[in-house]
Amino acid sequence: MKPVHLLGALGLVLMAGCATLQDTAPTISPEMAAHASMVGVPADTLEVGRRLMAMRCTTCHSLEPIANYTASKWADIVADMADRSGLDAEQAQQVTAYLQAARSVL
Ligand code: HEC
Repeated sequence: MKPVHLLGALGLVLMAGCATLQDTAPTISPEMAAHASMVGVPADTLEVGRRLMAMRCTTCHSLEPIANYTASKWADIVADMADRSGLDAEQAQQVTAYLQAARSVL
């Protein structure tokens, strides 16, 4: 019985420590698109940014919940991580636009 209990406890710990895709890379909602359009960013850009983030920002570590940082802190983080991710200036901007639109609706 004991090993079974141990596995159950481990499972709970792992689940608690694991952010969902909806926390770390939510799909583009109408609210996110509306926020982006207010700052002159087309909805297409958000999808490009989301995909770039999912591909390039997960090679060294997992994604963090978007709620963990403010919109302006995300801009700093992407600026810091862009080189390491091989993102050019336009791509970094696309990732930032996505993160900021997602953060604005939380
Ligand atoms: C080449 C490896 C690598 C890639 C690619 C990478 N990171 Fe990081 N990231 C790190 C390391 C290492 C740290 C630990 C802190 C540091 O060194 O600045 C970190 C820390 C972070 C943090 C913690 C906050 C902080 O300021 O320390 C966040 C959030 C983050 N990365 C987001 C991203 C995003 C978004 C991308 C994609 C644009 C990305 N990372 C791509 C290596 C990487």
